[in-house]
Amino acid sequence: MQLIDGKLTAQAVKQEIAEEVKKLRAAGRKQPHLAAVLVGNDGGSETYVAAKIKACEEVGFASSLVRFDASVSEQELLAAVERLNKDADVDGFIVQLPLPKHISEEKVTEAIDPAKDVDGFHPQNLGRMITGGDAFVSATPQGIMELLKRYKIETSGKHVVVIGRSNIVGRPMSILLSLKGYPGDATVTVCHSRTANLKELCLQADIIVAALGIPEFLKADMVKEGAVVIDVGTTRVAAPDTKRGWRLKGDVEFSTVAPKCSYITPVPGGVGPMTIVSLLLNTLKAASK
Ligand code: GUN
Repeated sequence: MQLIDGKLTAQAVKQEIAEEVKKLRAAGRKQPHLAAVLVGNDGGSETYVAAKIKACEEVGFASSLVRFDASVSEQELLAAVERLNKDADVDGFIVQLPLPKHISEEKVTEAIDPAKDVDGFHPQNLGRMITGGDAFVSATPQGIMELLKRYKIETSGKHVVVIGRSNIVGRPMSILLSLKGYPGDATVTVCHSRTANLKELCLQADIIVAALGIPEFLKADMVKEGAVVIDVGTTRVAAPDTKRGWRLKGDVEFSTVAPKCSYITPVPGGVGPMTIVSLLLNTLKAASK
């Protein structure tokens, strides 16, 4: 069993991005600039946005954080999106999800200029990804594709089972893996809460992407010997013995599944660090246009 080290890979990619930034700067170009919009005080969102801003600093990007109280109106938020769309200094921006219930995530996402949509959530980017065109691909699926590439994991003709059909991970993941070319050309089965024979399907999988958000859902008896397992889960579970009071749990029961795998991503330190790096790559791409 080989561990897929997302932390180490992310560090390597960050170094490559920092080199690119140096080249841009040497050519007289401005610093790439990522902005993040954060609404309310959700603990998870605060942590993710802080990590994104820190990553910007590490690679030499400019960053800015636009904060709103949870009571912000949809109109005010849409006006902020419009300001960022027009701000020539901002190359790309994200609106951290989830948003409060009184705000339509769909409306806000669709208000973002697709050329600045470094999250790749806009329907134009999703559409272009499906047709294999030039698009911003959402960060987590892109990060997983990068890990598959860097670990030279064969995907052609392989049976991939994706568990979860979210717009952010499961669905784009299933499309990317079925596109022509490496790391695609796979036969993909998308499973979800209504799938009747999940265990049987998982047992047929050469590669499993677990992205359903239920801690330790995937057990050893659902995985065939030699499979590749990618764990996208990041659920905070109570852990009174830790300083923070919680720890991250993946969707895979790591201790029992890992010995059966050819490759597996740990949580933390697997897919998570690659997600942030993908956002940086998208911002660099936006700045280079
Ligand atoms: N919430 C959870 N993941 C993400 C992400 O990748 N981008 C944004 N904007 N919100 C999220």
